[in-house]
Amino acid sequence: MPFSHHPTTLTQYLIEQRRRFPGASGELNTLLLDVALACKAIARTVAFGVLGRCTGGTDPTPVGGQVNVQGEVQKPLDVLSNRVFLQRNAGSGTLAGMASEEMDAPYAIPAGQPRGKYLLVFDPLDGSSNIDVNVSVGSIFSVLRAPQDLVDSGRDATEADFLQPGCTQVAAGYALYGPTTQLVLSVGQGVAGFTLDPNLGEFMLTHPDIRVPRQTQEFAINASNARFWEPPVKRYVDECLAGRSGPRDKDFNMRWIASMVAEAHRILMRGGVFLYPRDTKDLAKPGRLRLLYEANPVGFLMEQAGGRASTGREPMLAVPPTQLHQRIGLVFGSADEVERIERYHREPA
Ligand code: AHG
Ligand code: MN
Ligand code: MN
Ligand code: MN
Repeated sequence: MPFSHHPTTLTQYLIEQRRRFPGASGELNTLLLDVALACKAIARTVAFGVLGRCTGGTDPTPVGGQVNVQGEVQKPLDVLSNRVFLQRNAGSGTLAGMASEEMDAPYAIPAGQPRGKYLLVFDPLDGSSNIDVNVSVGSIFSVLRAPQDLVDSGRDATEADFLQPGCTQVAAGYALYGPTTQLVLSVGQGVAGFTLDPNLGEFMLTHPDIRVPRQTQEFAINASNARFWEPPVKRYVDECLAGRSGPRDKDFNMRWIASMVAEAHRILMRGGVFLYPRDTKDLAKPGRLRLLYEANPVGFLMEQAGGRASTGREPMLAVPPTQLHQRIGLVFGSADEVERIERYHREPA
């Protein structure tokens, strides 16, 4: 009797996508499968929790405790996850360089290793404040094309090579280490979600065409920053809170997980809007989240799923980056809400 249901693996999905580009070399697929392998390794480490002696920021554990370029104390899992990404991807021959939240400067592919035509930028462990309390964390990645002179010369990648607007991303995605481990990615033809089958160690296609509904009644923002918000953000949130008795004429629900990957996943699954806007808390930091390895990959996924991502003032994917670790105000999710927030920024207070 023939099987009525033939599950698709990540590998099969990527091969299928590649068929649409007859000239494609397969390099991107190799890269994405290496990234997926890194995520599987991190998922295992996360699953062991304290048993793996990997949580805590101040414990006398073997790694972590250093301050990264953002001024954050690295947790052991931040450092280990970064190491896993580097080890899994350095030798694949698909990359001309890598950059991450946890490294001040770009990582050069070691001498003697083959180099390729892509750049990989990542947040190896997102939501690391949640590690110690067993709440979902994730990894986020963005794939860019290496500038031609970098590929031709074989020199080491510099910061400038990574400063490309989000609309140039070739692929982007995240892994979510929650009750199940899921991988969500886009190679520029919509968004697909995969669930890790722990028995097989394979990512299986479970969410073939993720779409973000245009409308929502759910928002996410860290309300403890309310006194630092700019007037358009304050107006938007006040109107959500006023619910049925305010100008929106409907009640809103609120969520805040403090792992952007988990918030992005919820929004991809059922809609919603997320804001970590530019605020006046620290004028040296125009926003909390980072453009190249948080805002851009999530922005790419949102736009590919029919949602929107914005700084509040302009589309996120149009922003020309100026620094590797640049921070930016970020609003993403259901298109109607993101467009409304942009409109509030344009209207006089
Ligand atoms: P990371 O753990 O990679 O440094 O990122 C943490 C980010 C993001 O995941 C989350 O949305 C935000 O920080 C949480 O901010 P608050 O601490 O203000 O809640
Ligand atoms: Mn961090
Ligand atoms: Mn992060
Ligand atoms: Mn991180």
